[in-house]
Amino acid sequence: METRNHKGVLIVDFGTQYCQLIARRVREQGIFSRITVPGKALEALEEGNYGAIILSGGPQSVYEEGAPSLDREILDKGLPILGICYGMQWTVQALGGVVAPAAAKAAREYGHAELRLSEAPGPLFDGVESPTRVWMSHGDHVESLPSGFAVSGSTDTCEIAAAYHQANRIYLLQFHPEVSHSLDGQVILRNFLFGAAGLHADWTPGSIVEETVAELREQIGEEGEVILGLSGGVDSSVAAVLIQKAIGRRLHCIFVDNGLLRHGEREGVEKLFARNFDMDLHVVDARERFLGELAGVTDPEQKRKIIGRVFVEVFEKAKQKLPKARFLGQGTLYPDVIESVAAHGGATSVIKSHHNVGGLPEEMEMELVEPLRTLFKDEVRAIGRSLGLPPEVIDRQPFPGPGLAVRILGEITEERCEILRQADHIFTSEVEAEGLHKGLWQYFAVLLPVRSVGVMGDARTYEFPIVLRAVESQDAMTADWAFLPQELLRRVSNRIINEVPQVNRVTLDITSKPPGTIEWE
Ligand code: XMP
Repeated sequence: METRNHKGVLIVDFGTQYCQLIARRVREQGIFSRITVPGKALEALEEGNYGAIILSGGPQSVYEEGAPSLDREILDKGLPILGICYGMQWTVQALGGVVAPAAAKAAREYGHAELRLSEAPGPLFDGVESPTRVWMSHGDHVESLPSGFAVSGSTDTCEIAAAYHQANRIYLLQFHPEVSHSLDGQVILRNFLFGAAGLHADWTPGSIVEETVAELREQIGEEGEVILGLSGGVDSSVAAVLIQKAIGRRLHCIFVDNGLLRHGEREGVEKLFARNFDMDLHVVDARERFLGELAGVTDPEQKRKIIGRVFVEVFEKAKQKLPKARFLGQGTLYPDVIESVAAHGGATSVIKSHHNVGGLPEEMEMELVEPLRTLFKDEVRAIGRSLGLPPEVIDRQPFPGPGLAVRILGEITEERCEILRQADHIFTSEVEAEGLHKGLWQYFAVLLPVRSVGVMGDARTYEFPIVLRAVESQDAMTADWAFLPQELLRRVSNRIINEVPQVNRVTLDITSKPPGTIEWE
């Protein structure tokens, strides 16, 4: 899917850790953005409808051999350009200016800096008062600008911290406007997007839905049928509703009950979709199949592999009953398809492998339908809201594909699944009753396969421990364990021990990620 009716911004990734952040900052302003690698930038410009280019930062030095570089032609396209950090330095070098390493360690800048604006800092600094706090992270700096450029501002250690070429609409920033530590970063970006580049805020949930539905109709055609694995999570649900809007009952959703679901999950999803959407939903009860294959298996990786394989088998069997379905719908998101420059690999690029439903084999030869492949998670949520999906779906915490299997350590049995389901339900419903779930990325219970001694009434007990896990995170790459109120923990502990007979001890996981992972397996 390309930008079509939306004039967007092409972001060239020179290897910065902030590339997705730049893309999201642009989207937050209602403007489409797409990330590309340097080697494909020209091609991407030809294919899409772009009104501006942003050149990102990167970890290397522009003067080093093998440093990522762009076709110089990009500068002759007449499009407004914003060069950030390495993007600034690359532009300067390409146009005949000089980039040099910091002479002394003191001249490197990392962290906050005061940017003092020059008398005529240019249009990107409209409404910005001098000095303003910016976020710096660089060792190299621009020593001299190419002709026609003026300096916008300086910091104590960086003479040319921002510059611009008015006639050619090239704007260069040594600091990072996309990072929230740059106090006026949003203003500067807005000045670039709406002022210098004259773009319009037309990337809205309503317009995305309208356009996606039109594109789905075109791809699937008048007769095509689609199968989609529905988990009830936000991605597959929004994908389902979009496809359904496009082709109605030619969409067949398959919900697999693998016996590893949370309390009330299957019924909840069934009811939700029956109530809100006229959808062809097939619920496959594969509990025996999954639990049978998992019997006696304790190794985490082996468990995951078995679940992946059985999922494919169940899915293929369900598909046999729908022979006309030539398309496979998936809730793949933009971060899964972005091509990124390898962190230290210079201009070499890696393409992240796409998720697909439980690792479907290639010989299925179904054509993929991925209505969310240009979207970030927050956009999917916004679209879900605009499509009328209820908060219970939109704000649902992520739940891993292997389900409770990665939260029951050691062997998985039906009994253990039921113990964990009950304990997890008590914990999650108490957190939700307090309204605390909105600040948490995930909150769930884990069952350990050991027993400890306790005493209840006058009797000795010898039962399982439950671990409570609650984390705060932005993207699950890192996470902090969450501070839960003592009263809540006391109530949850009491309830679990009183209501779940096979549990006699409740513990709290206070490990962040890293060094822990969010899930226990
Ligand atoms: P970890 O445990 O690696 O988890 O810190 C990071 C995030 O990914 C989720 N997760 C999975 N999601 N299939 C999924 O769809 C999986 O196999 C899987 N394993 C972990 C986890 O819940 C957390 O949000």
